Amino acid sequence: MPDQRENFRQIVRELETRLRVLASFGVRMIEQPKLEQEESTVSTTQTLVEKQLRPAGQSDYRFGDGRRAKLEQAARLQVADQQPIPQAADSGIRKQTGFFQTSEPQIETSQTGWQPNPLSPQEAQAKLDNLREEIGDCSRCRLAKQRNKIVFGEGNPVARLVFAGEGPGRDEDRSGRPFVGRAGQLLDRIIAAMGFGREEIYICNVVKCRPPDNRTPQDDEMRTCGLFLTKQLEIMRPQIIVALGATAAKYLIGTDRPMGKLRGHFFEHPSGARIMPTYHPAYLLRNPAAKKLVWDDVQKVMAKLARPVEEV
Ligand code: URA
Ligand code: URA
Repeated sequence: MPDQRENFRQIVRELETRLRVLASFGVRMIEQPKLEQEESTVSTTQTLVEKQLRPAGQSDYRFGDGRRAKLEQAARLQVADQQPIPQAADSGIRKQTGFFQTSEPQIETSQTGWQPNPLSPQEAQAKLDNLREEIGDCSRCRLAKQRNKIVFGEGNPVARLVFAGEGPGRDEDRSGRPFVGRAGQLLDRIIAAMGFGREEIYICNVVKCRPPDNRTPQDDEMRTCGLFLTKQLEIMRPQIIVALGATAAKYLIGTDRPMGKLRGHFFEHPSGARIMPTYHPAYLLRNPAAKKLVWDDVQKVMAKLARPVEEV
């Protein structure tokens, strides 16, 4: 009996968290759904979303932009989403560019080299400050020409959780701070929904200068500037890096695979961190239905962060 009670409490806690997050994503209403099929025929969240809700944007599965949501479905989906993480052997992940890493990108194994950061926050911050000085008034790549401010990154210098985007946009270029524009505000809500404040985690980008017209950073720009990201990660030693969008995933994992194929799975970073690729918040602004998938991904991140250090 006590086990069942504990199970029940666990379910309630999870539901509470989900509702909090959905609310923070802008969901205002939950309708009683009319499911057309038995839950048991549905194997994954994505499958059900695709079967019942497609085409996204035309269905009534909608988020906070003033429209209504069929959220009960989403809740059922999450219960149904108990797919194991694929093993490297069947992941189908191929080495693509060879630019960024020499080894095959690895889906997580049970062992990683991650260890908690031995540095104190003050020590880590001092190292980050030194690195910022080393970068200086950088002109190592062509992005220097049109940038206003270098956006180094900010947050907890010993964060266990780091969010890495692609590069500064207009607002970031003006302010010198990462993710402060519209996409940043959505990222803030995702972070808050995970139960964190911005100061508890770290936010940065693969390139530190805004590409002209927000174009995608080029490979050589990412290689040049990415070395500084690598150093930041070495100093911070996060347990998990959330790669926001395909560009960050490409750099950190070393693959050109589309986000739809990457997201939801942990990959290994040479620093010992695990990488969870997920959709970029700017993409979510255009495709609100994908918020559900991001929530699935960040739940996996939260579950891993919640585990005691010896078990991670
Ligand atoms: N998009 C990014 O990838 N990074 C930012 O800092 C802002 C928007
Ligand atoms: N494609 C991208 O480049 N990024 C996303 O987040 C999703 C699709």
